[in-house]
Amino acid sequence: MQISPSILAADFANLERELGKIANADWAHVDVMDNHFVPNLTLGLPVVEALVAVSPIPVDCHLMIEDPDRWAPGYAEAGARSVTFHVEAVHDPVSTARAIRAAGARAAFAVKPGTDVAPYVDLLPEVDMVLVMTVEPGFGGQSFMVDQMPKVRQVREAVRRHGGDVWIQVDGGVSADTIEQCAEAGADVFVAGSAVYGAESAATAVDELRELALRHAHR
Ligand code: DX5
Ligand code: ZN
Repeated sequence: MQISPSILAADFANLERELGKIANADWAHVDVMDNHFVPNLTLGLPVVEALVAVSPIPVDCHLMIEDPDRWAPGYAEAGARSVTFHVEAVHDPVSTARAIRAAGARAAFAVKPGTDVAPYVDLLPEVDMVLVMTVEPGFGGQSFMVDQMPKVRQVREAVRRHGGDVWIQVDGGVSADTIEQCAEAGADVFVAGSAVYGAESAATAVDELRELALRHAHR
């Protein structure tokens, strides 16, 4: 059970300090948005390189961008230890995942709430993680979509059949109120923005979320 706080909810003027607050987490989730794939713009490669250089924990890069085929391997080369692209944006998922892995990172694909995951199950041998979005990508602080839990179960079942060690990540509206359902459905990597950075102590929130996830682990 791993916690990946999203710095989208952090103070963008002090990102090094904000990363320091989550040193007890497993990953630092960095949302790259290009204002095309999603209607929001955040940061890109130069900032990710700078974050990798100062982060106390590995960087988990979530690319909400068009044409990840072209850009995703660069994020792995920049030192992100996990790079996630969206199936709705990618042209050649197999080559893109292989290029990410060849650059030394874990590769992952993400599905938006309206995207059926069944057509992508064949990709499982090519990736290390599947991200099931539990909000429409683009913004932090949205409400958790409980109707995505069957999809998490479906991916867990597919991973069991395929037999590999593929992690299942959920992202969007994950909090102390919603993390248990995600864990029960089979998720094992939890992204949380507002629930961590909106808490009085980010580090305490991370520990509490991990504890809740462990207590409700899928089996
Ligand atoms: C949404 C991003 C999320 C976002 C989650 O498009 O992918 O990572 O930061 O924020 P919360 O946890 O506040 O929903
Ligand atoms: Zn994200």
